[in-house]
Amino acid sequence: MSTTEQSTVLTAQQLHNDPRIAEARKLVLEALAEHTAKIDHVRPADPALTDSYEKMLAEYGQMRGGNLYFPYLGSGIGNGPYVELADGSVKLDFITGIGVHGFGHSDPRIVSAGFDAALNDTVMHGNLQQGTISVDFVKTMLDIANESGAGLDHCFLSTSGAMANENALKMAFQKHHPATRTISFERCFAGRTISLAQVTDKAKYREGLPKALDVDLIPFYDHNDPEGSTRRSVQALRHHANRFPGQHANIWMELVQGEGGYYPGSKEFFRAVIGEAKKHDMAIIADEVQSFSRTTRPFAFQHFELDDLVDMVTVGKITQVCCTFYRDSYKPRPGLISQTFTGSSWAILAGQTIVEGLVNGGHYGPDGRNVQLHNYFVAGLEKIGKKHPGSLHGPWGIGGMVGLTPFDGKFEQARDLVLKMYDAGLMSFMAGANPARVRFLMPLGCVQEFHIDNALEIIEQSVAELAASA
Ligand SMILES: Cc1ncc(COP(=O)(O)O)c(C=O)c1O
Repeated sequence: MSTTEQSTVLTAQQLHNDPRIAEARKLVLEALAEHTAKIDHVRPADPALTDSYEKMLAEYGQMRGGNLYFPYLGSGIGNGPYVELADGSVKLDFITGIGVHGFGHSDPRIVSAGFDAALNDTVMHGNLQQGTISVDFVKTMLDIANESGAGLDHCFLSTSGAMANENALKMAFQKHHPATRTISFERCFAGRTISLAQVTDKAKYREGLPKALDVDLIPFYDHNDPEGSTRRSVQALRHHANRFPGQHANIWMELVQGEGGYYPGSKEFFRAVIGEAKKHDMAIIADEVQSFSRTTRPFAFQHFELDDLVDMVTVGKITQVCCTFYRDSYKPRPGLISQTFTGSSWAILAGQTIVEGLVNGGHYGPDGRNVQLHNYFVAGLEKIGKKHPGSLHGPWGIGGMVGLTPFDGKFEQARDLVLKMYDAGLMSFMAGANPARVRFLMPLGCVQEFHIDNALEIIEQSVAELAASA
């Protein structure tokens, strides 16, 4: 190119730089700020809307073949952790779609990303036609994944955690063919496809399904007995590996158990278990679909210092677009993985905004925002537990994953507390069994201490009412 030649300004860039676009964005964000500001506290439903709302819920339940767990239909607007429902009520969202809405509701940064997405030529990106925004997102994710030395060479996008996990499983089985077995942990959850339902340790989730692969379970870490539980897990793994020599393609590791009840493992535990798994040539797969972004590091494998050991890692939920990271040695042969939908334009741009926002927003590190929010919330829960003896018990999870055991740990007690808090305006969900837990996934990107105070008031009031009625 001669020095006088100008580089081309693409038409797409010209559109993005058009002053009318800047003006439109400004107007949209101004209107948004004005209207979202009205949603700043929990409030009950508007009686004038109740009948039509209930009709809509019943109709939806009928059409989808079952009622929703919560009578929740969003109106389409919120403000940080507060969200308006179509019956006019406002809830404080401390479950965020089980970890999806990391910046809460109607965040201007996400709306702005949506504005850019609306200018994109297509809604969806997929196997044959990708856009530059996928390149940017994958590059960001790989940079973060490898920032402390992991050798995760590749990142493949898909639209659900289950699909990201399926892709990891497929790559592990292809490389270790003809192995047909997987090791996973008791109490783990991996997703709802036919094969992931086998990996998941819950009989109800695979009722009536054919067996797609063989799974051998080993016990998870027990914080009350670190050395004993590590020894038992390693022994169990060795036992299975010796019983079926060469037949295990991988070990499936949820580093912080989510659906199981918010149980984190430990660095020493994982290193010991992985050390044994490596002796039997198993792929080490970390399922971070729920834990990504919630510990002291972007990835839980980084928090537990397992960078040198993981072969594949999956993320989802808060990232909006799901990823399967893998080492070059697991690269699949052509045809094994491909997706019509790898992510919508808005999901990719929102994912980029959220991931960068958390990194640049001081969320990570031993004294980062995740730890501060965790400590503040847990201190409040401990206070309630002391004030109402026997009502709330830790352990309390890790970082942005906070869980508690209400009363005696019975399922009904956890469910009743979740439903009572919902009625009072706070959204949480159940997790685990024996003991059953109540779990919270705060919108880390927008939640403030005063929101936590608001949540704690509702928790205390609900606990006191349940204790009084017991
Ligand atoms: C650890 C873990 N893996 C996988 C999944 C499945 O993700 P998705 O529901 O997006 O398919 C979940 C979802 O709850 C999860 O928590």
